Amino acid sequence: MPQGTQRRDQVNPVLVIIPTYNERENLAPILRRLHAALPEAHALVVDDGSPDGTGDLADELAADDERLHVLHRAEKAGLGAAYVAGFRWGLARDYGVLVEMDADGSHPPEDLPRMLEALTDSDLVIGSRYVPGGSIVNWPLRRHVLSRGANIYSMLTLGVWVRDITAGYRAYRREVLQKLPLDEIASHGYCFQIDLTLRTVDCGFTVAEVPITFTEREIGESKMSGSIIREAFFRVARWGLHRRARQLRALRRR
Ligand code: GDD
Ligand code: MN
Repeated sequence: MPQGTQRRDQVNPVLVIIPTYNERENLAPILRRLHAALPEAHALVVDDGSPDGTGDLADELAADDERLHVLHRAEKAGLGAAYVAGFRWGLARDYGVLVEMDADGSHPPEDLPRMLEALTDSDLVIGSRYVPGGSIVNWPLRRHVLSRGANIYSMLTLGVWVRDITAGYRAYRREVLQKLPLDEIASHGYCFQIDLTLRTVDCGFTVAEVPITFTEREIGESKMSGSIIREAFFRVARWGLHRRARQLRALRRR
């Protein structure tokens, strides 16, 4: 390994948090790809009691690999809650960078070194599908429309100019997550990503978007649902109203 990489990993150990619900067949391949791309990185699987035995498999794999850790949660409680638990676990240890990555192979671990490079001069790096060079492979039209729609709706409602604000592939510097009030985060579904972006920006941290290729899973099913979409719609509307009200109050004071 090049000297530079080694030094960075020692100063700034990386924890890749992988939430899982019924990802048994995807787990070993994604970990293999992660460790091929970043041999020093640790991974934390946060499993919500998957009925297909993903959690047991994670334990078996962890028994032979000191870079792998497993957090078992009793029941499916949403992506947001899984990540908050993973962040707390990582912050209680000395990881300098905390990464969010899907288990299903949609987020290429091969792109992570580039994302970590970008983290040297920003606080949050988003693996983005919507900056030049980014792309999506094998998504049905419905998902394209939904994702584009969610990003445009969020930009207009919140006034935050991040092009892939719903992206689930991210690298946070430890300091960001230490500062955010993790107790207050109530977003269950994928709007968790929007929620955290907003809080990160509002705290004055910098965000960079690095292009990635998102490839739709080949095995298993997406957990996207109507209730996840509704939650995102109403929460973003409420955050938008609060922001506008705050801006109006500030204007009036002036
Ligand atoms: N522990 C846990 N609990 N894991 C979960 C839960 C949950 O309730 N729900 C989903 N996951 C895990 C899945 O097992 C997978 O590893 C990852 O979270 C992403 O879930 P998918 O269901 O594959 O998401 P997607 O492909 O539909 O959506 C992706 O794109 C969205 C933006 O368009 C994800 O990256 C989302 O985070 C992202 O917002
Ligand atoms: Mn997926």
